[in-house]
Amino acid sequence: MTSPLGKDLLGLERLTSEQISLILDTAEPLREISERAIKKVPTLRGATVVNLFFEASTRTRISFEFAEKRMSADTVNVAAAGSSISKGETLVDTARNLEAMKIDMVVIRHGSSGAAHFLAERIQSNVINAGDGTHEHPTQGLLDLLTLRQRWGSLQGRRVCICGDVLHSRVARSNIWGLKKLGAEVAVCGPRSLLPNAVGEMGVTVFDRIEQAIEWADALNVLRLQLERMESGYIPSLREYNRVFGVTRERLERAPKDILIMHPGPMNRGVEIDSDVADGPHSVILDQVTNGVAVRMAVLYLLAGNSPKLADAAKGTV
Ligand code: CP
Repeated sequence: MTSPLGKDLLGLERLTSEQISLILDTAEPLREISERAIKKVPTLRGATVVNLFFEASTRTRISFEFAEKRMSADTVNVAAAGSSISKGETLVDTARNLEAMKIDMVVIRHGSSGAAHFLAERIQSNVINAGDGTHEHPTQGLLDLLTLRQRWGSLQGRRVCICGDVLHSRVARSNIWGLKKLGAEVAVCGPRSLLPNAVGEMGVTVFDRIEQAIEWADALNVLRLQLERMESGYIPSLREYNRVFGVTRERLERAPKDILIMHPGPMNRGVEIDSDVADGPHSVILDQVTNGVAVRMAVLYLLAGNSPKLADAAKGTV
């Protein structure tokens, strides 16, 4: 059966609003499976999924693995360390060798932008991008959309500001594409040194002050300062960054309203976000994590070529 998403999930830029809504509609009833005492449906029984994680990950790697196991797929995890990648084997040779063992899907996280596309063009298995360099992180974008949609019903006309290190952020790119396709207004806020030069061409508003962003937005998606991708010179110091751009309780209290606070994790507490905001009443950060499993179940299910009858899966009938 043909997948309604095509062979691969590489980014949200190339998905239609209908395809994005289909993934969210499919994910919605799947949340319930993770609430059961026995968290398992037989939907992907017989499918073999390889998780290739060449960069560190907690949330994405573990939630893909939970999603695969809860749908009864067979899973194998491969990291660069401990595999023949560490001896110089290429990514494509690694994947082709895995295909020779008859796998069905590859989930890949890689430090190079375009790595998922590169692989998808060279192997027959479905490829899911779990984050490639600074390009896209589509399942993170989808789980963010699902979290907002659950709170608001619809994203049409809602205002979301993506705050912080947009320059290095694949999460920002996937969010901008997805939010705009579902009708939200999108802004970015951060030091100019951490905003891409061409950010205006993506159709977003730019705020230079976090106070303006808080005043404007219905939700803030606060990004991690990606210190590992930075050469020196982007910001004067972490303390200075927190003083000027940190999302703090005091700043939220100055513009009292029902704003949602998101963060893709891992957080630098006390830098881009203070603990009393991350753990406070506006935060939906752990809802994002919960939704990550359901979104990844939906993506696996749809890529496997199944029709969107997931309500049946949630009832345990498939
Ligand atoms: N949000 C996210 O991608 O987190 P991990 O790096 O822990 O997977």
